[in-house]
Amino acid sequence: MNLLITGGAGFIGSNFVRFLLQREAQARIINLDALTYAGSMENLIDLPDPARHIFVHGDICDRPLVDRLLVEFEIDAVVHFAAETHVDRSILGPDQFIHTNIMGTYTLLEAARSFWSQNKRPDSFRFYHISTDEVFGSLAPDEPPFTETTKYAPKNPYAASKASGDHLVRAYGSTYGLPYLLTNCANNYGPRQFPEKLIPLTLLNAFEGKPLPVYGDGQQVRDWLFVDDHCNAIWKVIQKGKPGETYNIGGGCQPTNLEIVRTLCEILDEMVPDSPYAPHQQLVRFVPDRPGHDRRYAMDTRKILNDLNWQPQESLRSGLQKTARWYYSNKDWVNAIHKQQDYKSWLEKNYDQRSQINEREIAE
Ligand code: NAD
Ligand code: DAU
Repeated sequence: MNLLITGGAGFIGSNFVRFLLQREAQARIINLDALTYAGSMENLIDLPDPARHIFVHGDICDRPLVDRLLVEFEIDAVVHFAAETHVDRSILGPDQFIHTNIMGTYTLLEAARSFWSQNKRPDSFRFYHISTDEVFGSLAPDEPPFTETTKYAPKNPYAASKASGDHLVRAYGSTYGLPYLLTNCANNYGPRQFPEKLIPLTLLNAFEGKPLPVYGDGQQVRDWLFVDDHCNAIWKVIQKGKPGETYNIGGGCQPTNLEIVRTLCEILDEMVPDSPYAPHQQLVRFVPDRPGHDRRYAMDTRKILNDLNWQPQESLRSGLQKTARWYYSNKDWVNAIHKQQDYKSWLEKNYDQRSQINEREIAE
């Protein structure tokens, strides 16, 4: 099977590339990635069976390039991860999100439609769009989890751009018959996540004794999923998912942000008992909230369980332990990011303006 994976040098994409090379001997991967600040060749070091992986440095908005890759490598499925993905960046600068997540998805769809309609095997071709639970907006504490039929109500520019991509994919399915698959997934965590996101940011800051910023009151809820579980779900959907269907994916585990940060602090206290910064909870700081901050996400995953027999395997605690150990023992990867000027500027831009609300320590 020849797969065109977009965004395969990013967090989930690179974990998926590794997962496939390890587990599926018949898969050949063409990895198209623009290597933005979030993508890195460091994520693709020491791949198992690298001969089955071809990296192409390029943009999903480059139609001639995408056309050529589809034909040259006789692609059976496009697995579309490439996106701008950080909500805070989308709030401070939505432009790139509109361009990549909407125009990029549209360009891929057009190229796929043209290739698929001229293809000799139209039934087996798949366009798989990787999306997010953020398209559904925010849940009140007593509301039931999002299902596949929950109305879209995105509340930040990132979520709105992903929702637009989802709508385009479905429109290509109903108008042109393009055989698509679509999954909406909850918050992922694990190795190789860019440290602008809560979990790796907390870990890297804690290693250096820097403040651990918690937005608002820290009572927002996310549905956390270990990245390997997501990769497993994606592969099941590619193999057995019904074209034109959507599946929700989630971890079935919904702590508050403050609970996540506290758990990470406990894990670090155990993992690095002689750290000068232990107990790490003393580093926690409440900072001004994200504008329009979604309060709660939760996913109803009964459909993917019933139809495809998928459910997450990793517990939150063990997944966080694995993640903390990975960042602690992969100093080269971490140092490469610390050296990025873009990363330093981002931290200044997002956090310097967020003066501390208060200095209260999390003692209770
Ligand atoms: P990421 O930010 O870590 O990586 C994105 C990758 O896309 C990078 O390698 C980047 O270089 C590449 N890219 C960006 N623009 C591109 C372009 N124009 N052309 C080609 N490549 C480009 O993202 P991630 O966290 O791995 O997310 C992957 C996908 O999964 C996204 O579509 C995201 O919306 C979705 N998703 C993420 C999560 C999560 O918790 N991280 C949850 C649900 C869904
Ligand atoms: O729900 C799926 C989404 O999860 C994906 O579609 C996005 O690509 C991914 O970035 C993620 O979005 P979130 O905004 O939920 O993730 P983030 O790690 O940025 O934030 C998680 C929560 O932690 C959120 O409620 C905001 C909060 N937070 C985040 C940061 C960076 C803090 O309290 N402090 C921080 O410094």
